Amino acid sequence: MREANACTLSENTDASQQFLDDVICGLSQSPKTLPCKYLYDQRGSHLFDAICELDEYYPTRTELAIMRSAVHEMADRFGTEAGIVEYGSGSSLKTELLLEALDSPVAYVPVDISDQHLHAAAERMSDLFPDVDVIPLHADFTDHVKLPEFPQSPRRISAYFPGSTIGNFTPDEAAGLLERIAETCHRGGGLLIGFDLQKDVGILEAAYDDAEGVTARFNLNLLERINRELAADFDLERFRHRAIYNRDQHRVEMYLESLAEQTVAIGEQEFTFEAGETICTEHSHKYTIDGFSELAASAGFRMAQHWTDPEQLFAVAYLDVV
Ligand code: AVI
Repeated sequence: MREANACTLSENTDASQQFLDDVICGLSQSPKTLPCKYLYDQRGSHLFDAICELDEYYPTRTELAIMRSAVHEMADRFGTEAGIVEYGSGSSLKTELLLEALDSPVAYVPVDISDQHLHAAAERMSDLFPDVDVIPLHADFTDHVKLPEFPQSPRRISAYFPGSTIGNFTPDEAAGLLERIAETCHRGGGLLIGFDLQKDVGILEAAYDDAEGVTARFNLNLLERINRELAADFDLERFRHRAIYNRDQHRVEMYLESLAEQTVAIGEQEFTFEAGETICTEHSHKYTIDGFSELAASAGFRMAQHWTDPEQLFAVAYLDVV
């Protein structure tokens, strides 16, 4: 995600005004940027689901395979009568595996900014696990999460943050978020988290620029969204998707590149683009096990155990709050 700057501090809380402010701010910067959270409108979320099914996009299936092979060891880390706080609520299959493996879990708290995702996930989990108190929490999990009252007291509170979403934050932002998770879970609690590993550049760039062009549609959809919601006139034929691995920063960078010199209007404002000029729309950081363990340590965690796949593409780690 984009580094925090003065533009993110708008006091206007209305969502569409905030979207406009963030877009104007990002496109006024040099180089131009747009916050990756705006990739996920309804169409963007469907396209992201399609990305997760692609041959080239290994993270989703690899994380699921890791969960399948090690879920009982993971469950041992949570202990008996655990309370589970899930950061995001879109990963019900992995969450289901985890809850099934746990010994008498007492509470499950999915936290999501999207009301729709949250309530659909909560209903499903209540049906599947009638003995678990399912308490959906409508909140932005990047802020401090204040836990609800638990009808049955958990022995330990552990968070679950799958999907390598942590990689979409800068390492500084990721450390801040991990610190807040550690505060939420308290000493004695923990965090089960998925993160993507550094690997061959060819594999990485293919994962973010697939042959079918699904990721390109996902990225370009952001311009369509801006056209639709903010009365803009981006010509989608005059931009293309690019994904490059930055070896120094260990991250995949997604861009929208202008194919010509052009001017785009967003409401009353105009933005000029040189041919070849880019808008950065997402960073996806890739870690080593040691690098992630250091990041976790800087945020008040100790990596107690980790699991990877045979090709070492992806990792899931259990971190203890220390
Ligand atoms: C949501 N996040 C973990 C994805 C990733 O791999 O960084 C977002 C994504 N962007 C393009 N493909 C997938």
